[in-house]
Amino acid sequence: MRRSDGKVSEPADPIGFDAVFAELPLLHPTPRSWAELAAARLPEFLADHAVCEQQVAMYALSLAGYYPEDAELVERSAALAAEEVQHFRRVVAILRRRGWPLGGRRKNPWAQSLRARIVLGREPWTKIDRLLFGAMIEARSCERFTRLLEVVEDPEVVNLLADLGPAERRHWKLFYRLAGRDVDEQALAVRFQGWREFEADLARGLGTSPAVHG
Ligand SMILES: [Fe+2]
Ligand SMILES: [Fe+2]
Repeated sequence: MRRSDGKVSEPADPIGFDAVFAELPLLHPTPRSWAELAAARLPEFLADHAVCEQQVAMYALSLAGYYPEDAELVERSAALAAEEVQHFRRVVAILRRRGWPLGGRRKNPWAQSLRARIVLGREPWTKIDRLLFGAMIEARSCERFTRLLEVVEDPEVVNLLADLGPAERRHWKLFYRLAGRDVDEQALAVRFQGWREFEADLARGLGTSPAVHG
């Protein structure tokens, strides 16, 4: 593209997967073949995606319920839930316009296995784990959206993912920051490393279904 000053500028780079991945706390990249599968089966992807947004909104609100005395967490998680509800509504609107069915509750073995790793009844670690679980959910979602953006050509879905990827990137950082308020930086990093390795082991077995975390 030629600019008015005569210099040639590059077309806007969509979002480079490698650059995004390098800043995420993930240890295993989703194969491009997953994105090709999801792009070929967008009705299934979007139906699952809507449920993911709905569930993360509910999870964020549940944190406010677990820790009502933590004013910052209540405020931040309520705001995050509101944002996820907006994401949910955007995906639902696309499904409706296209006459594609919205999915209901379904199994998400990746998220279930992760959630089962939260240590219960041992604060501050329970709270920290709950927040690190949220960080992993957001980080992997960001990564999947970015991966899919490399492949998908549907303009409406491109716009959706280009907006949501950066939002989920912001969200994992928020969860991580909130987790770091009750423990020193090194202890948090060690704890998170356990989550990162566990998640990578799960992710290595994925990539074969068009679901967001499939
Ligand atoms: Fe979201
Ligand atoms: Fe999010």
